Amino acid sequence: MKTTDLKNTPSDISQAADLIKDGEVVAFPTETVYGLGADATNDEAVQAVFTAKGRPADNPLIMTVGDASQIEPYVQVNHAARQLMNTFWPGSLTMILPIKPDMVSMLVTGGLQTAAVRMPANDATRAMIRQAGVPIVGPSANLSGKPSPTTAAHVHHDMDGKIAAVLDDGPTQVGVESTVLDLTADQPTILRTGAILPKMISVVLGKPVIDGTSEKALAADQVPKAPGMKYRHYAPDKEVVIFDPLDWQDLQGQLQVGDAVMAQDQLLGNLGNQVPSWSLGTDLTSASENLFAGLRYFDDQEATVKIYVQAMPDIDLGRAYNNRLGKASAGQHFTL
Ligand code: TXA
Ligand code: MG
Repeated sequence: MKTTDLKNTPSDISQAADLIKDGEVVAFPTETVYGLGADATNDEAVQAVFTAKGRPADNPLIMTVGDASQIEPYVQVNHAARQLMNTFWPGSLTMILPIKPDMVSMLVTGGLQTAAVRMPANDATRAMIRQAGVPIVGPSANLSGKPSPTTAAHVHHDMDGKIAAVLDDGPTQVGVESTVLDLTADQPTILRTGAILPKMISVVLGKPVIDGTSEKALAADQVPKAPGMKYRHYAPDKEVVIFDPLDWQDLQGQLQVGDAVMAQDQLLGNLGNQVPSWSLGTDLTSASENLFAGLRYFDDQEATVKIYVQAMPDIDLGRAYNNRLGKASAGQHFTL
């Protein structure tokens, strides 16, 4: 199969929508990462997404919509969900809601009685979904286990020959996947950290939000609530090691041929040309935006053996950044 590159133009968006209607798989841009789109109401199309990604069938998919009204036939939208949609959509908040009986395929939900729903903040993608007239499934467009794609080139790298088209709208902005919020539990619970922070949700709902991603919550939970979070994820083939900025001097003294460093400009300023480096910019936003691209870059460099990546403060967007980095490194830290 030849994978067509489509751009953010009216005729290309129509072509993408037609492909979705025909049951084909089309990768699409969002503000977080690129996704793999297919008609969520067509089981064969959904199956093709699992096949292209090599994804385990018990890991459910997000139903992705162009308008909030597109979700109504499929899930029960309660008052809290309505408030959050009004505030954060389009944007990086995925909500888990009860499905309407028999309205969502088992393939999409992984057999659960709930479904994940999201409206991304990308105009080309939302136009494509509205024109297709159906919600699309939207897992990240990487091969299962690899870092999520933040450019169309990343998608081509993983998916060329496996999917019909990639809708290219340039690099994504947020760089880490959306916040996943479970609204089917007694209390709203975060299942995956992202750019929409618990405190932002709490302010809108006027009540506390449980952090289901804390060490304590995970230890108490035998069955992971977001099935996807149990898999080794986001991991390059190369060895990834986390380092604390306080250890920067020590690390510099130990660097050798084959090492690469991903760090903030504040640190890279005094590295010189000792080893190749990748800039994470100067703040949490730029670090999240550039994390996956750097991991993918060094993964493809034959000379790179080990990638040292700077940890961020574990607050705000730093939570999501550190979570993804933790998975990429399998928790391996630099120590002297
Ligand atoms: O930012 C994003 O959310 C991206 C872009 C492309 O929209 N998509 C994405 O999808 O990250 P995916 O499939 O890679 O991650 C969806 C997460 C998985 O961890 C999955 O297990 C969880 O949401 N999930 C999906 N349906 C669920 C459900 N009914 N209950 C609990 N967790 C669910
Ligand atoms: Mg994913």
